[in-house]
Amino acid sequence: IKRVTTHIIQEMKNRGEKISCLTAYDYSMAAIVDAAGIELILVGDSASNVMAGHETTLPITLDQMIYHASSVVRAVKRALVVVDLPFGSYQGNSEEALRSAIRIMKESGAHAVKLEGGLEVKESITRILSAGVPVMGHLGLTPQSIYKFGTYTVRAKEEIEAHKLLEDAQMLDEVGCFSVVLEKIPAALTRQVSERISIPTIGIGAGPHADGQILVLHDVLGITKTFKPRFLRRYADLHTVMSEAISSYARDVKNESFPTDKESY
Ligand code: KIV
Ligand code: NA
Repeated sequence: IKRVTTHIIQEMKNRGEKISCLTAYDYSMAAIVDAAGIELILVGDSASNVMAGHETTLPITLDQMIYHASSVVRAVKRALVVVDLPFGSYQGNSEEALRSAIRIMKESGAHAVKLEGGLEVKESITRILSAGVPVMGHLGLTPQSIYKFGTYTVRAKEEIEAHKLLEDAQMLDEVGCFSVVLEKIPAALTRQVSERISIPTIGIGAGPHADGQILVLHDVLGITKTFKPRFLRRYADLHTVMSEAISSYARDVKNESFPTDKESY
């Protein structure tokens, strides 16, 4: 199998082929996602919500991200594996940012890192890039800043914030990021950014004009039930499938129909 590289992702944008991306956090799920043909697997800090049950992405640690990332890397044969730098591991100190990125690359075997923000984290980004580590940007609704925003509502609806986002996206392109996630912004702004910059944009709640799309795996599979923003399309109802399977098993144990003689030694 030919591995997906940052260069292949760029070529896909150049020829107008959309890039499919999903998150994964563990070996078993990553193997399924990779075999299904997804080009980019993000070990997102959404693991903080989906895996650990926290309300925000802020509590997850670098060590925990490395644990998730190394599990995913062991499963993946084709996809590009990108890992989120967690909150507190890169902001305000470019030396620490580089150290964090190097730990992820060395200890997990992942192929790239992602971090949130524009101009505020430019120094961290350039430092990581200069060490040869590919960087993916993330603009718009950046969940590590949720206490600044105060709400998970759509970002950059007003001219000032939209203008800053466009400038940040151009900066990320110029310094050499290989792509950028655009989260929960108006479709028209996504179109403008995607036309204006050369690197691929990956949208989530950002409309149809991004060069690729990403969603959280557990949302796509319908494992998470209560999270239902308008941008989410559920492709399965695994919550129901899993609940029924598990209660069937419990029933069979209780009524002694499992295990049978055939299932015994
Ligand atoms: O952590 C995450 O899952 C993400 C994507 C949704 C972009 O950052
Ligand atoms: Na994230």
